[in-house]
Amino acid sequence: MAKDVIIACDFPSKEQTLAFLDKFTGRKPFVKIGMELFYAEGPDVVREIKKRGHKIFLDLKLHDIPNTVKRAMAVLTKLDADIVNVHAAGGTEMMKRAAEGLIREDGTRPLIIAITQLTSTDDETLRRDILIDRPMEEVVGSYALTAKNAGLDGVVCSPLEAAKVHGACGKDFLTVTPGVRFDGGEKGDQKRVTTPEKARELGSDYIVMGRPITAAEDPVKAYERALKEFLGE
Ligand code: C5P
Repeated sequence: MAKDVIIACDFPSKEQTLAFLDKFTGRKPFVKIGMELFYAEGPDVVREIKKRGHKIFLDLKLHDIPNTVKRAMAVLTKLDADIVNVHAAGGTEMMKRAAEGLIREDGTRPLIIAITQLTSTDDETLRRDILIDRPMEEVVGSYALTAKNAGLDGVVCSPLEAAKVHGACGKDFLTVTPGVRFDGGEKGDQKRVTTPEKARELGSDYIVMGRPITAAEDPVKAYERALKEFLGE
């Protein structure tokens, strides 16, 4: 399975995103487009970046009733993203319908992965706000297994949870992991971070890195460093 570094393009406009991507004249990075850019610019930004030869993880985290999610996915699949996602908390039926909605006329579909618990959620939030009194690790493992049983391809999780997810769901079940920082780099608002090299050791399939690359003085150099550390290239 292809391992790769995904750059989180958390920019407010298409103009800024394309100016950033213009810097990459060699290898075209795998790009994550999130809600900020998608809601600001609409589906065209996805088409445009795809046309430039980038793979795309469209990180819109759908969570609604199964029929609505299926129909939304049927629209999104036309954008030809490589990975899309939903919240596992939407349940088995929602995840199954989401995957169904993605199937294209030729029978193929993009990869679809699930958010288990957001890294901004802690045990206190689980107990107090969503009335879940199991430990986070158990919740993440159980949500991952539910996603796998619903036919999904993987989950978004911390690199620290990648081995547990692979243990429960098999090594081919994808772990896409944010919360990655270079040794000695700024953590920002990420609490539990690992280096690209450590993420590789822990079994991450894709690492998602935003600010350590987007805010670097030399983003291309930072990207190449991430590739080297994560892929050993
Ligand atoms: O800049 P940074 O490397 O922290 O960016 C990480 C990206 O991954 C952001 O787009 C963030 O929204 C996303 N993400 C995350 N933690 C999750 C899910 C998504 O950091 N659990």
